[in-house]
Amino acid sequence: MSVVLASELSAKYAQWGISDTLTDLVRNFGDRIAFSSSFGQEDQVITHEIFANNIPIRVFTLDTGRLFQETYDVFASTSDKYGKRIEVYFPEAKSVEAMVQAKGPNSFYFSVENRKECCNIRKIEPLERALQGASIWITGLRGSQSANRSSMALFEWDERFKLVKYNPLIRWSLEEVVQYLEAYNVPQNALHKKGFVSIGCAPCTIATPDTDDIRAGRWWWEQSHKECGLHS
Ligand code: ADX
Ligand code: SF4
Repeated sequence: MSVVLASELSAKYAQWGISDTLTDLVRNFGDRIAFSSSFGQEDQVITHEIFANNIPIRVFTLDTGRLFQETYDVFASTSDKYGKRIEVYFPEAKSVEAMVQAKGPNSFYFSVENRKECCNIRKIEPLERALQGASIWITGLRGSQSANRSSMALFEWDERFKLVKYNPLIRWSLEEVVQYLEAYNVPQNALHKKGFVSIGCAPCTIATPDTDDIRAGRWWWEQSHKECGLHS
């Protein structure tokens, strides 16, 4: 597994549809493929491709313990609609307890260091567990979400997690995503209709109806550092 493999996969699957690519990846990588969903609009497209086509790929979510009720609602309605299991990974209770005992429940607002500590405990460590044994990690990243993401490829080597990331929607526009969800009647987070675009944890996400910057509502009090470490 390497950078070379990622670029070979990008070339091989450049013109393939998502479900055909996923099916072929299962043929080649078996059960060493996992898809991480936060139930965002992009993730819901990929979930539909996997579940509606009965492709045997693990779908998991990271429940940070600080998600919006609307996110739990779309989690439940997605499981119900497709009748499929979505795996859940929680943070280690002891780590959360120690952090909150020491710094209080809102430590992330007080420094970037605190915020990264919280993201590490609530997202990165559970992600490491969820990806154990995986060779291919599927994500809902899109290029137009941020400058950092605009240079990403269809398949990328992830040095942090030592596996290949597959980003099926990397060249999709937000309009294409929304049209797809409506065409296939896929469940969506009710917050999107209230001005939320990119949705993460409740205390760290606000509605931003008046900007084209898709990630402006994430960690809005920080000037930069608009990544939690999952994709940096
Ligand atoms: S983040 O790094 O800023 O939180 P973002 O919300 O844009 O990421 O989502 C990008 C991709 O990261 C999603 O399409 C999904 O694959 C993955 N992801 C983000 N948050 C979660 C989560 N809570 N559970 C599972 N996957 C997630
Ligand atoms: Fe903690 Fe906020 Fe990161 Fe969620 S997004 S893990 S609440 S700092």
